[in-house]
Order: sequence, then C-alpha cells, then structure tokens
Amino acid sequence: MTLGGINYHELSFAQRLSVKYFTVAMVLFLAQMLFGLLAGAQFLWPDFLFGVLDFNVNRMVHINAMVVWMLYGFIGSIFWLVEDESGVPLVGPRIAEATFWVLTLAVTVVVVVYLVVQSGPGNQWTLWLINEGREYIEAPRWADIGIVLCMVAIFYNVAGTFVAGRWSGISGVLVLDLIALAGLYLAGMFYTTNLPMDQYWWWWVIHLWVEATWEVLVGCIMAWGLIKTLGARRRIVTTWLYIEVALMFGSGILGLGHHYFWIGTPEYWLGIGGFFSALEPIPLVAMVVHAVYDAGRHSFRSNNHPALAWLIAHAFGNFLGAGVWGFMQTLPQINMYTHGTQWSSSHGHLAFFGAYTTIVVAFIYLAIQRLRGDVWMSAGMDGAWRWKWALALLHIGMVGMSIALLIAGYEQSFVERAVGGSTWQAYFAGQTQPWFVQAMWWRMAFGVLMTAGLVLLLVDFLRAGAQETRPIKSLALPQAAAAGG
Ligand code: HEM
Ligand code: HEM
Ligand SMILES: [Fe+2]
Repeated sequence: MTLGGINYHELSFAQRLSVKYFTVAMVLFLAQMLFGLLAGAQFLWPDFLFGVLDFNVNRMVHINAMVVWMLYGFIGSIFWLVEDESGVPLVGPRIAEATFWVLTLAVTVVVVVYLVVQSGPGNQWTLWLINEGREYIEAPRWADIGIVLCMVAIFYNVAGTFVAGRWSGISGVLVLDLIALAGLYLAGMFYTTNLPMDQYWWWWVIHLWVEATWEVLVGCIMAWGLIKTLGARRRIVTTWLYIEVALMFGSGILGLGHHYFWIGTPEYWLGIGGFFSALEPIPLVAMVVHAVYDAGRHSFRSNNHPALAWLIAHAFGNFLGAGVWGFMQTLPQINMYTHGTQWSSSHGHLAFFGAYTTIVVAFIYLAIQRLRGDVWMSAGMDGAWRWKWALALLHIGMVGMSIALLIAGYEQSFVERAVGGSTWQAYFAGQTQPWFVQAMWWRMAFGVLMTAGLVLLLVDFLRAGAQETRPIKSLALPQAAAAGG
C-alpha cells in the first residue's frame, strides 16, 4: 500500500520497528535541544525558572535524553540492517515489538519523574525509584534492571537472526560489540559510598561506551552504509572495519585513564591515561581516510546524497570533535588546567554531535529512501534545499557553539586555574569575566540556530523524496561514465 509516497506497509517487520525507534529518537532529540536551551538560558538569567525547572533538572534531561535517543538511533539502525545482512527474517518479532513498547514506556516514566520529583533527601528508596545520581545515566535502579532485560531481548533477536541466516564480517563485529556494550552497563549499577570508587566504575560505562563500544558500533553501521550509499566493495569495507576496531580497542581501553587523573586513583594513571588517550585519534583518522577513500573511488556518485553527506560529516565530525578536541585536553599536564571547565563541555558537544548525531541522521535518510519506494535521492531532487540548509544550520550552530565554549574554557583555565590558583574565589572570578559571559550569549545564539536547523531536518524527514519518481540506480563498479548526478 502506498500512502502519499510512503510505503510503510511494504517494509519488512524489522524495518517498521526501526521506523518506530527512529521516531522516538527524533522526539527525544528535539526535547534534548529544548532542555539545552533552558539550561543555557539559566547561565544568562540564573533565577529563570528557579524552583520550577531547576538547572540540575534541565541539564539532566538534556544529557539523558541524548544518551537515550542515540541508543534508540543505533537500535533502529541495527534492526534496519539485520534482515538484509543475515538474509532471513527477524527470529522473534513478537518479543521485538513488546521490547520496544516496554522500553519506551519506561523511558517516559523516567523522564516524567525527572521533571516532577527531584528535590528532597536521597536514600536507598530514592536510588531505586527516583534517581541513581550518576551523570548521563541517572535512571533509577528499577529502570536500570528493565533496560538490561530489554537489551538482552534485543540481543537475542539480533544475534539469533544472524545465527538463523548468514554471518558476515560486519555482523560478527556487531554482535561481539553488543555483548561488550550491554556488559559495561552493569558497571554503573551497583552502589558504593566511596566517591572515587563510584566514579572509577562509572567511567567504565561512560568512557568505554563512547570511546570504545559506541565507536565500534558506528563503525559497523558506517561500513554497511558505505556499501549501500556508494556500492563500496564489501571486502574492502570489512578490512577497514577490522583495522579500525583493533586500533579503537587498542587505544580506547587504557585511554580510560584520562578520567582517572584527579579522582583519587593511583598516580600511574597519569602516564597510562596520557599515553594511550593520545593515541585515540589514530583510529578516527583511519575512519576519515576510509570514508573519503570509498567516496573518491566511486567519484562521490551515490544514490542517496543526503545520507552520503551525513556519512562524510560523521567521519570528519568524529575526527574533529572526539579526536582533535579530545586530544587537546588529554595530556595530564594540560588537563590539570582544563579539567571540568567549559573546555570539556566544548569537546563533549562537538564529539557527541560529530560522532553520533551525524551517523543516526545518515541512517534515517537511508530508511526514508526505502519508505519512499527506493527512489533516487539526489542533490537536485525536489526540495533538496531543505536537507542542505538543515545540514548547514546544524553544523554552523554546533561549530559556533563549540568555539564559544572553547573560548569560555580557555578563559577559565587561565583566570581560575593558572592565575587564580583554583581557589573558590578564583572559581567565581573565572565565571564573571566578560569573555566567559559573552561566550554564554554566543552559545545561546548558536543554540537557537541549531534548533532551527533541527526543525528543518525533521520537516525534511517527513517530505524528502516524496515527489521523486526516478528509481534508484545500480551502483556496482565499474560504472565509469554511466551514472550522472
Ligand atoms: C565520540 C567519542 C567521544 C565522546 C562522545 C566524548 C565525550 C566526552 C564528554 C561528554 C566529556 C565530559 C565528561 C564529563 O561529564 O565530565 C568528555 C571528557 C573528556 N574527553 Fe571525551 N569524548 C570522546 C572521545 C574522546 C577522545 C578520542 C579523547 C582523547 C583523545 C577524549 C578526551 C577526553 C578527556 C581528556 C576528557 C576529560 C575532560 C575533563 O578533564 O574535564 N575524548 N568526553
Ligand atoms: C540548543 C542547543 C544546545 C544548548 C543550548 C545546549 C546547552 C547545554 C548546557 C547549558 C549544558 C550544561 C553545561 C554545564 O553544565 O556547564 C549542556 C551540556 C551538555 N550538552 Fe548541550 N546544548 C545543546 C545541544 C546539544 C547537542 C546537540 C548535544 C549533542 C549531540 C549536546 C550535548 C551535551 C553534553 C554531552 C553535555 C554535558 C557536557 C559536560 O558535562 O561536559 N548538547 N548543554
Ligand atoms: Fe574519555
């Protein structure tokens, strides 16, 4: 059945499930931006919404919504490719459908609780029902257990489908990585009264997720995406994937040490963390070379220009935001001054956006192409200005915001740390300097620009390719002069 250019009912079951995951992801992305704007506004007007929606709540919703929507984006992408890659239908459709609804209901309850009950004493009871107090993964204990069960169900479906069908290099890496990703979550689930110890384990989730298992996951998604958008050769893509994964785990696991510098862990972490995290940009360079190599080899000829543009944005964004911005502050000699300033926040924003937002958006464009009945999504299609402007506004906004935060962080490192010697008084002196205050204004201005870009992107998701009638072209090499556009 075709509904105004959308053939949702012709999708396979797993692909329809992906569309659901992507939809929730985008709703949460929008929520993330709105709560970011509220938190940013509170830097400018500190009593704005005081006692109604406090800064800690806005900040928590902002970053938790981000983690959850990115996970939804990854799960959606995995469900999208699992049947294509394995050659058989999903093994447990009922379980998969139920998991989606249970997970989404749990997320909704957690967010509502975040918004309405976040003050009062903390005890065992609040740990179970209200908030576990671990930045980025604040969800209460009951939700943690629920999330683990849902992840086991999703894992069963993904691994089971590959077992029932065929394996490939991509699916092998993907399945092993999912075990690591789910396993690490357990490290953030137990309670200790010792803060350094608590932080020690918490970083296992946070750092080892974003700098190891998430990176490997997007490596798999990227590999599949390059085959689909460019017709890249599987053997080459898989070889690159193995190289990237080896480098990523080689540097990212001990790179964990860059979070152990100042939390009361033994001093040897200064050397280990400094050395291995300095190596972390190398796999990210490999990913850029890989994407550009593939795109160049196929003369950037692609069936899906928006998806390709966002895949390339991913390669560069990951390298700049995670690699370069991370590297800048990763040596202990430098991190002593920059630690916990807006410098970290600048890196946090550029890295999450560059590495993960981009790839999920690329994948959604792949899904949309299928939804429209496998049409050719070119740079010249009807309404192409929307995806181009959305891409531009989101990137200008994000880069502008990151530079504003970097300036603020630079100023804090100098005034508060180097000159003021990290005293309490210097802490406030750092935050009343005009350079800091102006940067907070710039952050808001670029944040508004970004939000406009996101709204345009969402509109484009609903309309892109709807008017297109030209079918997708074969991308098999060699196609030399055959394909235009
Ligand atoms: C996509 C990958 C990455 C993401 C999403 C990411 C994200 C983040 C975030 C959000 C923080 C702030 C954490 C907090 O709340 O304290 C952070 C801190 C940090 N990141 Fe990354 N990062 C990534 C990769 C890297 C890489 C490759 C390096 C090193 C080359 C790096 C070096 C650091 C360092 C040194 C800190 C500590 C900052 C401080 O002392 O305050 N990151 N990262
Ligand atoms: C409208 C745009 C946005 C605004 C106004 C905004 C604002 C903020 C604010 C005010 C904070 C708290 C900073 C602090 O505690 O000093 C924050 C934290 C954070 N935001 Fe955003 N944000 C926006 C978009 C995004 C996007 C698109 C991402 C990622 C894709 C993101 C990722 C993060 C992260 C990872 C943190 C924690 C940083 C850290 O702990 O160092 N934000 N944001
Ligand atoms: Fe890290």
